[in-house]
Amino acid sequence: MIEKINNLTNVIENLTANNNEEVEALRIKYLSKKGEITALFNDFRDVPNEQKREIGQKLNQLRNLAQEKIKSLKDTFENTDFSIQEIDLTRPCDPIEIGTRHPLSLIRNEIVDIFSKLGFVLAEGPEIEDDWHVFEALNFPAEHPARDMQDTFFIEKNPDVLLRTHTSSVQTRVMTTQKPPIRVICPGRVYRNEAISYRAHCFFHQIEGLYIDKNVSFADLKQALLYFTKEMFGEKTQIRLRPSYFPFTEPSAEMDISCDLCGGKGCAFCKHTGWVEIMGCGMVDPNVLDLCGIDSKEYSGYAFGFGVERIANLKYRVKDLRMFSENDVRFLKQFKSSR
Ligand code: DAH
Repeated sequence: MIEKINNLTNVIENLTANNNEEVEALRIKYLSKKGEITALFNDFRDVPNEQKREIGQKLNQLRNLAQEKIKSLKDTFENTDFSIQEIDLTRPCDPIEIGTRHPLSLIRNEIVDIFSKLGFVLAEGPEIEDDWHVFEALNFPAEHPARDMQDTFFIEKNPDVLLRTHTSSVQTRVMTTQKPPIRVICPGRVYRNEAISYRAHCFFHQIEGLYIDKNVSFADLKQALLYFTKEMFGEKTQIRLRPSYFPFTEPSAEMDISCDLCGGKGCAFCKHTGWVEIMGCGMVDPNVLDLCGIDSKEYSGYAFGFGVERIANLKYRVKDLRMFSENDVRFLKQFKSSR
């Protein structure tokens, strides 16, 4: 019996296996109900009493040794099996979603691109402005009723510091710091004290254009706007200019484009007129030039300004303006640049 135990101890100590199945076979061979070690325990009943102590100890040691050996073999395979079986290196990985540009950024970039082909360069100004740059220099004298065209947010109690109501303030900044010829395109955010609804917001975006040189005429303005319209809305789109009023331009006009939904025949979108209004424009008032330090006898210029959301609505048919600022990714990720 002792010899058998010693031999088995030797065998167990040197056990090896190549995979989980082999380990399991070893467990069955030695430790299962019909296993060799279990059989020795059965034989133990017949061992004479005086040897029971010594042999019992050895048998227990042998069984412990076998259990540990098999567990450690199992462990090595379970660990390596994990890396082989559980990770499938051929599986396609989860796609990494890259972000998309905001629809207003797409439209703004497109507009800036189009005007840059006409030689306009980008100019920007501050959103927190003073009264002079937003109103005074643009020919809105104090108490002038035209100031009410744009309901202004003032900062605290100082009526001189306000959130700009239009990007025309960038005109003032450029004219007071640069010498003609000036040809700038000025995108930016503007603020007005308006109740928020599907068609109005207390902040939105505008683009201002300004061209000042010798002998700039209204025909130059019209040609630039026609070029922009065809690039932005398609070759077939037509424009029309209607007389209007802005304090900083004389003469002033509003520009409509032919409705591309109904092709100019008239529909609900264009209120059955065949035309949709998109911007204000005009020849820079000589007063404005002089206030900004540019000699109105030597130079003339044109300016235009329009809302980015309005253009985005026309292009993308977004009916509710609030969607542009709600940051709902399901809405935002639908837009791609057409260029
Ligand atoms: N600033 C005007 C507005 O916010 C838009 C505008 C009209 C800008 C005529 C201009 C212009 O430069 O000439 O409604």
